[in-house]
Amino acid sequence: MKSIETERLILREWTLDDVKDQVEGLSNFETAKNLTVPFPYSEKNSIEYISRHLKNNENSYAFAVVLKETGKVIGGTSLDLNDGKYGGGIWLNEDYTGKGYGTEVWIARAKFAFEVLGANEIENGYFKFNDRSRHMQEKIGCEIVGEKTNFCPALNSNVDEIRVKLTKSSFYNAMKNTKLRKVYDKVIL
Ligand SMILES: CC(C)(COP(=O)(O)OP(=O)(O)OC[C@H]1O[C@@H](n2cnc3c(N)ncnc32)[C@H](O)[C@@H]1OP(=O)(O)O)[C@@H](O)C(=O)NCCC(=O)NCCS
Repeated sequence: MKSIETERLILREWTLDDVKDQVEGLSNFETAKNLTVPFPYSEKNSIEYISRHLKNNENSYAFAVVLKETGKVIGGTSLDLNDGKYGGGIWLNEDYTGKGYGTEVWIARAKFAFEVLGANEIENGYFKFNDRSRHMQEKIGCEIVGEKTNFCPALNSNVDEIRVKLTKSSFYNAMKNTKLRKVYDKVIL
């Protein structure tokens, strides 16, 4: 799968032309404090990451999130298979947060995992203080399964991370919500 389309976004494989946009998004402290990415996020970090993720394969999917309207890369998301389960993360450039794009990406990613990859469950997480991500993940059906400690380079400290799972059944249950269903229906796999 090379790309996924939503109403306002295209999730596609990374290219080295995306370095500038990725660095712009991830070199922001307000974004990076929620993630485990290197900080400060440099051009070298971006070239290394993108070079390792140019082509998706069945064990590892990495998508640049492109705003259809302008072609700008406004974020990224991933799905990696570990011990038989898919997991990964999401980030958006701070200038593009709070507009529903995260929810759109998360729904597209889950639809892809359940309907193309045949997954029954996805594992995710969020740092304990990340209320926005918690809300977004709860909204689409994620349930808390535990906690672990993770190192955050931007904060230069260990952080408590809440671990969640999204099962196929709780995702489809959440998609009964009219607003979310509209987002789901517009996802083209
Ligand atoms: C987390 C992130 C992906 C969410 O994407 P987004 O486009 O900003 O989120 P959305 O607009 O789709 O939805 C956010 C929801 O959280 C709500 N929200 C915003 N701030 C909140 C807060 N402080 N507490 C609780 N809910 C909050 C919004 O109202 C919205 O809910 P609604 O649709 O029910 O109104 C994005 O903000 C981001 O990339 N942040 C920085 C990196 C990060 O945190 N990545 C995730 C790591 S787990």
